[in-house]
Amino acid sequence: MAHQATENPRSEADGRPEYAEILRIYKLAKKQEWQVRDLPWNELPPIPEGKGSPQRRARRRDMWRSVLTQQLQADMLACDMSSQLLNIAPDPEAKLYYSTMVQDESRHTEAWLKLIAQAGGTAERDPYLDELARMNLEADTLEEKVFQMQVFYERLIISRFRLIARSSRGTVLEDLCNRLTVDDGIHHRAGMAYERVLLQNASKKTKQRLVEAANRLLPTFVQHALWRPKERALIAGAMRSLDMQRLHEDIEEGVRLAQSLGLDVGEIQLPV
Ligand SMILES: [Fe+2]
Ligand SMILES: [Fe+2]
Repeated sequence: MAHQATENPRSEADGRPEYAEILRIYKLAKKQEWQVRDLPWNELPPIPEGKGSPQRRARRRDMWRSVLTQQLQADMLACDMSSQLLNIAPDPEAKLYYSTMVQDESRHTEAWLKLIAQAGGTAERDPYLDELARMNLEADTLEEKVFQMQVFYERLIISRFRLIARSSRGTVLEDLCNRLTVDDGIHHRAGMAYERVLLQNASKKTKQRLVEAANRLLPTFVQHALWRPKERALIAGAMRSLDMQRLHEDIEEGVRLAQSLGLDVGEIQLPV
């Protein structure tokens, strides 16, 4: 892998115009790179400080620690998945791009670790998120992995970061979420570009298996979407209908993305 990743990227003139978009995103990713030290660590509070009684503030703090833990967990899993993609992608253009994505996910993990230390430590992990990542790492084909990770998850996470940023104005957390919105927008774009190239050359059977694999992970995705740790169990009831609505939107978005890649998703069975 190492020698391929450091080779000069083939230019569009080299006869692989279908990879031009991936190389463009590779250059953009390098330009957008930031450092953990760029965050306003000494100027802003790490997370919203909250108001009211000490008990109430402690509960809010536990809620934020739980939100941060889920994002740390997601980025640690993203390190595993992106480094696997870097290793198995056969195309040098894709390897160049994945080298930046591995760095991004590692930097995201570093930032969450630092933020969580300042917010009082980690909380409970979401077991269904671990399961989704395992299914991705063990998926049979590159087409399935890129579809699940970059086309689907990286797209969904962007709206989560916007939501967290909106409820944490004036904190390091908001600043981090804004940076991750940009980075994951690039990850998603790269995934769409590469998946398009991969599917152009894929057999009907590969495409069919991709849709079947997406169907198989849906029940676990539903459990992940509705899962609440004990820190947030109190608000779980109140959040349920909002969670359900968001879940429907997420799955519909996945169907739209698949269709835009020319996949026949007629067989998708919504488990909700
Ligand atoms: Fe990330
Ligand atoms: Fe990402």
